[in-house]
Amino acid sequence: MTKSFDVAVIGAGPGGYVAAIRCAQLGLNTVCIDEWKNEQGVASLGGTCLNVGCIPSKALLESSENYARAAHKFIDHGINLEGLSMDVPVMITRKNKIVKAFTGGIAMLFKKNKVTSLHGSGTLLKQEQESGLWKIQVKNGTEIEEIQAEYVIIATGSTPRQLPFIKVDNDRILDNSGALALTEIPKRLGVIGAGVIGLEMGSVWRRLGSEVTVLEAQPNFLMAADEQIAKEAQKTFTRELGLVIQTGVKIKSIQVEEQQIVVDYADAKVDSQKLEIDKLIVAVGRSPNTAGLGADEIGLKTNERGYIEVDEYCRSNLPKVYAVGDVVRGPMLAHKASEEGVAVAEMIASAKQGHANESAKVNLDIIPWVIYTSPEIAWVGKTEQELKSAGIAYRAGQFPFMANGRARALGETSGFVKVLADADTDRILGIHMIGPYVSEMIAEAVVAMEFAASSEDVARIIHAHPSLSEVLHEAALAVDKRAIHI
Ligand code: FAD
Ligand code: NAI
Repeated sequence: MTKSFDVAVIGAGPGGYVAAIRCAQLGLNTVCIDEWKNEQGVASLGGTCLNVGCIPSKALLESSENYARAAHKFIDHGINLEGLSMDVPVMITRKNKIVKAFTGGIAMLFKKNKVTSLHGSGTLLKQEQESGLWKIQVKNGTEIEEIQAEYVIIATGSTPRQLPFIKVDNDRILDNSGALALTEIPKRLGVIGAGVIGLEMGSVWRRLGSEVTVLEAQPNFLMAADEQIAKEAQKTFTRELGLVIQTGVKIKSIQVEEQQIVVDYADAKVDSQKLEIDKLIVAVGRSPNTAGLGADEIGLKTNERGYIEVDEYCRSNLPKVYAVGDVVRGPMLAHKASEEGVAVAEMIASAKQGHANESAKVNLDIIPWVIYTSPEIAWVGKTEQELKSAGIAYRAGQFPFMANGRARALGETSGFVKVLADADTDRILGIHMIGPYVSEMIAEAVVAMEFAASSEDVARIIHAHPSLSEVLHEAALAVDKRAIHI
């Protein structure tokens, strides 16, 4: 007999697995279908984020940052580490262990919450006219199973965007999976794309000793970030970390030779320049993944860039079919995917009880961004350039980590925090940070903005001393030109 569920979730990344768990918590009979296999060919839940994204990249960033601190900064504390060395295979094994623990953890969470987990590729077949149930095919190799569900949540994520003239082999030409699995430090590493992956992965291997050159098509560095933050980041990454960053480039060809890879590129000044390297990371963005879903066959609407079209409630054009995470509009971030998963689960549970749930909606305007470089970069809300082009009058307050006692004690004094507030109402419109542990500090900024705080609200809140959070406090005070310690 065909197994029947209230909800079928396709994809077990942070969008899908969180949606499945929340559905189950709300009493819905839920199945989650996922096709991911790890390098050993074993099913591995957690999607891009847990297998080859957020978690493994942060593990390598931590290892390489520890090495860089030991190599260059411990000496300032009087700690001498002569003969320091880096064992890359140990670092990779540690990363793999973390991934295994977390992906296995999702399987345990599914069991605990009674989510049925099916391994295989999910294809949406059709909605039965009479019952209104969706038929879904689950294909695992030669095994094919059909299940049915009243609601469907598509959370099939994204895959790395490819360049037309070079094929990723994850041996010498790497995408994120290959960049996270190198077992030797490449002497010369090229990175195409100075986006989030390019900068994080470039940092890992630069800290361990690679000569890293990053080639970026856009004329300016890190154009999604606030301009002032981007300038500070470019200065620090170039001068302190030693990344070579070239913007405004056009890649003309990539030759994979026996001994090396040669990238031929042009920039605004020179028509043809050659970059010779041992490995190349291609990190030019990600594409929504609808392969195998049967989107065209069932009439699931996608836009011209391949994203599944959804409204603000993540509803697709098909009845009772929702889509969340990287496969729909909005930033490709794990926390955005998860929050959409929760919102959709709550909407479905409400609908099953016969009422709408208008509040189950993700606020795409207040989503924190973090880039885990050193110094870290984090922001929420509008940048100065966005406010200027929208003609919104604002006041800015800024404070440097250099003037903060905790940052001095840590020996991490690069960067600053900037608060942007509406010139009339003082409501905070954006907070931008570059500096130590700003990945943690940004949470306060998100809370402030979600509660529609003014810069004065943050200025009046007591912040512990000495702590890095005082930099945000002082930046809020600086909006009204009353920062104390500068
Ligand atoms: P995914 O995580 O991509 O999961 C989709 C799942 O669906 C996969 O398991 C896939 O195999 C499965 N699937 C696809 N099609 C089917 C099908 N037809 N049937 C069955 N299963 C299917 N974000 C952050 O917020 N913070 C970070 O620090 C961060 N670091 C990153 C580092 C790297 C190197 C990369 C590549 C990404 C990083 N991201 C980070 C982005 C983050 O990984 C994604 O935004 C997030 O994984 C999206 O979640 P998702 O559930 O939409 O999709
Ligand atoms: P990205 O969109 O961040 O950056 C891609 C960069 O490549 C852009 O700067 C783009 O201009 C450049 N580019 C595109 N085509 C090019 C070409 N032909 N030549 C040279 N440069 C070119 O994409 P990325 O780094 O691949 O990451 C994908 C997504 O994954 C990110 O946007 C982010 O949403 C997510 N991610 C998040 C992380 C985090 O939250 N810390 C970490 C890593 C990834």
